[in-house]
Amino acid sequence: MRKIVISIGGSVLVPNDIDLEYAKKIANFANELHEKYQLCIVAGGGKIARKYIEIARNFGASEIFCDLIGIEATRLNARLLSAIIGKNANIEPPRDFVAALKALNFGKIVVMGGTHPGHSTDAVSALLAEYINADLLINATDVDGIYDKDPRKYKDAILYERLSVEQLVDMIKSQSIGAGKYKLIDILAAKIIQRSKIKTIFLNGRNIENMRNAIQGKEFVGTIVENK
Ligand code: UTP
Repeated sequence: MRKIVISIGGSVLVPNDIDLEYAKKIANFANELHEKYQLCIVAGGGKIARKYIEIARNFGASEIFCDLIGIEATRLNARLLSAIIGKNANIEPPRDFVAALKALNFGKIVVMGGTHPGHSTDAVSALLAEYINADLLINATDVDGIYDKDPRKYKDAILYERLSVEQLVDMIKSQSIGAGKYKLIDILAAKIIQRSKIKTIFLNGRNIENMRNAIQGKEFVGTIVENK
């Protein structure tokens, strides 16, 4: 059975408040995929994480303290998604990859959040994909894939249909690491994707039909990371 890891960006799941309509759609989709694939979902922290991190930082909390707050927010979102998915999902979000693999082998849809301070849930999803030897890693964000510049700011931004993993690493290597501050993905995620050669696709998490096409090997809109 093919193994799939989907990283659902907090910007998709919790753009402002929790997007319940979207959460229900992604939960239905997870149950559909569960019939054919071994599935793991890693939930991002979104606005909830950012709000809490910002307040803690304003009161002088250290970056690691803020990361830990972010991790709690991602686990809160993971728990909620588990509840919406229902009986096919694990009840307790795994706190590490060993527990995640156990739940997966038990026949569950694994829904988890963060693990350790110092990176984002994108890195968690890449590490998890490497650990379980996933066939596909999907990074579901709020834009259609990877662009040459920020598509939210620039109307003429061009979407890459394909991008080498070296280009990806190059694009983000100067990005700073800070709680709640990762943009495209974090450098750890990119380096893990590079070393393990996981087949990775970036696409818009809001378009479920498009995600289904990507998983089924049909035509889709997004960016394929080429990793030879
Ligand atoms: P996210 O993965 O949601 O971070 O985790 P992000 O990329 O900054 O935000 P989105 O995806 O656009 O919503 C939220 C925060 O939680 C901490 C980091 O501070 C991260 O920015 N975190 C998360 C960790 O420190 N470790 C983890 O394993 C996961």
